[in-house]
Amino acid sequence: MKILIIGDVVGNPGREAVRALVPQLRQRHGLDLVIANCENVAGGAGVTPKTADELLSFGCDFLTSGQHIWRYKEICPYMNGQPRLIRPANYPTGNPGNGSGIVTAPGGVKVGVLNLVGRVFLENVDCPFRVADREIEKLRKETPIILVDMHAEATSEKVAIGWYLDGRVSAVVGTHTHIQTADERILPKGTAYLTDLGMTGPYNSVIGRKVGQIIERFLTGRPQKFDVPEENVILCGVVVDVDSKTGCAHNITRVQERLLPF
Ligand SMILES: [Fe+2]
Ligand SMILES: [Fe+2]
Repeated sequence: MKILIIGDVVGNPGREAVRALVPQLRQRHGLDLVIANCENVAGGAGVTPKTADELLSFGCDFLTSGQHIWRYKEICPYMNGQPRLIRPANYPTGNPGNGSGIVTAPGGVKVGVLNLVGRVFLENVDCPFRVADREIEKLRKETPIILVDMHAEATSEKVAIGWYLDGRVSAVVGTHTHIQTADERILPKGTAYLTDLGMTGPYNSVIGRKVGQIIERFLTGRPQKFDVPEENVILCGVVVDVDSKTGCAHNITRVQERLLPF
């Protein structure tokens, strides 16, 4: 089965790219399922019930997130009632929402999705490696097809979790840096891997925000308002081809699709 996994969708331009491009990509690649990271979908940071609903109505079957998930407090009750949006599983016990879930493809095949957040240069949460062990054991009782969104800053932490989970999950893909890496591969025991999917949003930006404002921040060291540019929009992600019986990945292909030519 073929699954498109889309990197961090940023603001209104990101949502627009999903709305316009996902139906085309579905047709072109014969996709069975579409998954997107939504942590930046509301104005560039965070996710609201309305923006999550929009992504789901634009053809995303399931949403993962990251450390920005907590920005709008109304997302907490929403997550508790919306099994198609998850947050990193390794936040301490007792937090709202789920860290993993199951989505069923139109043909009836179940796919497990696990979201983790890294600890290097991010918050001091529970160990993503040990939490992955626990969650994968749970998901494997339902299905051999498991996708992992490792939301992390450090390449080393992402690569390490890829090797750690090789042969136990179908794919480990990274999010959070908003810059697509070129290291896609199938690891020796059958797990598809990519360090970062990249961003779905304005390409002429600094990870989705206006260039001038970010440079000003670096020059002055002072907090600035960061706006999301509307032009030069790109959708980034991967298409993973997974054996629906064994859960092994056969292929991983990077996707970079422009909303309009530029
Ligand atoms: Fe992000
Ligand atoms: Fe993030």
